Amino acid sequence: MGIAPAPIQYLQRFDSEPDATKLALLRKFMADDPIGLFRQLRAERPILAAPGCTLVALYDDVIEVLNMPSVFTVALYAPKMANNYLMMHDDDAIHYREKSIMQGLLNRDDLPKVRKMVGEICRGFLAEANGKIDAVSDYCRLTPATIVRDYFGLIGMDRKDLMEWSYWAQVDTFYNQPFDIATPEERKRITDAHADSGQKLGAYIGALIFTRSLALKFGFISRPLMKLWRLLTGQNDGAFHDDIVTRMLRTKFPPEVGFDLKRIGTNAGGLLIGTIETTAQATVQAIEFLLEKPELLAQARVAAEADSPAEFDSIVWEVLRFVPISPYMFRKTASAYTLAKGTARETTIPPGTNVLALTQSAMFDEMAFENPAEFRAGRNWYHYFTFGYGSHECLGKYVGMVMIPEMVRQIVKMPGLKAKGNIVFDGHMPKSYEVTWNQ
Ligand code: HEM
Repeated sequence: MGIAPAPIQYLQRFDSEPDATKLALLRKFMADDPIGLFRQLRAERPILAAPGCTLVALYDDVIEVLNMPSVFTVALYAPKMANNYLMMHDDDAIHYREKSIMQGLLNRDDLPKVRKMVGEICRGFLAEANGKIDAVSDYCRLTPATIVRDYFGLIGMDRKDLMEWSYWAQVDTFYNQPFDIATPEERKRITDAHADSGQKLGAYIGALIFTRSLALKFGFISRPLMKLWRLLTGQNDGAFHDDIVTRMLRTKFPPEVGFDLKRIGTNAGGLLIGTIETTAQATVQAIEFLLEKPELLAQARVAAEADSPAEFDSIVWEVLRFVPISPYMFRKTASAYTLAKGTARETTIPPGTNVLALTQSAMFDEMAFENPAEFRAGRNWYHYFTFGYGSHECLGKYVGMVMIPEMVRQIVKMPGLKAKGNIVFDGHMPKSYEVTWNQ
């Protein structure tokens, strides 16, 4: 019988590393073995001040950080975002107002319809694919891009463009930060591509809002005629179909609320940026995780055929604890703050510190997850951080909660599904993942 290898002493190696390369080493550990690194952090150094950022590893402390947006701010988002988008604001009027308006418009009563739509879109792509697909571009990205077009109403643009714009915004905002390791050339390539795609997105959104609002105005005048036409012919010309952009344009707020056409455009752009790349990464990583574990895959396949999706979905949420799209949320302190006050780990964090709230570590903390190393579907949903936590919790959470599992469900139902290799990554983002199935 072989002897299990001793766990790598990440913290000892970190301590003996010169200051100049400590962060790079830590990031390497985090990329190679986040679960192992986080286990040691929770046990030995739950609040670790590293060069360039402070890591917070325990469930309680992650919650404390994410619950105080005015202290642990999203200032690092600001230079990456345009037009005062709600996400770059902490606990102020614009964030509170626009997030709640958008939550209302993304009516949760739509979800059964959205899930059905997602299922149909996925089945369509799989049927066309003839037993072989690049799951990243032609399934995991194309499906949310289709939802962005058909449910959110960002029409009139090639979905490949929507995918590209979401990609660069996501890479630059989330993975091109001071605590990410990249050469100046790589950083520039990303910021240039983001600036270029941001311009194209801005021009597109301007044209979309202009043409859609004109169409709605014209529609208002001609609506009775169209009703009559539909009654007589039984045809629907599609002029007034419902989507989120249409809902935004039809909803009239008094000027005192401050949700004018410009704010509508900004929020429409946010829907696109937020949806595609996040959904794609979560979905492809979940598919790979299942394909690598035949027993779990078999269990998922049985659950995929059940009338209720609850069991299947709970498998996917547990998968994303092991392979989240990011192992942390990042914040910057606006003022000094003493975290975990009154405990042995109490630490004062100075103002201007970048803080990584290690949400994946929190999802392996025994405080909230019994036997965390074990894969156990059906855990308490409220303990997961898949869609963030606190005031910045994901706006698209409920859409994501139907989109991700339904996309995974449709593809794992394909008979004989297997992967040709692992996901190929470009930096943090998935690039390609070829899968095949029996026709
Ligand atoms: C389905 C469409 C989606 C839309 C429209 C969307 C949009 C957004 C927006 C606007 C925020 C910022 C909220 C705020 O600052 O108050 C946000 C946050 C977040 N979203 Fe989404 N998102 C979507 C899907 C997803 C998916 C699929 C995931 C993960 C699998 C995800 C993960 C997150 C996380 C972790 C945050 C928190 C970021 C933080 O705390 O700094 N989102 N999302």
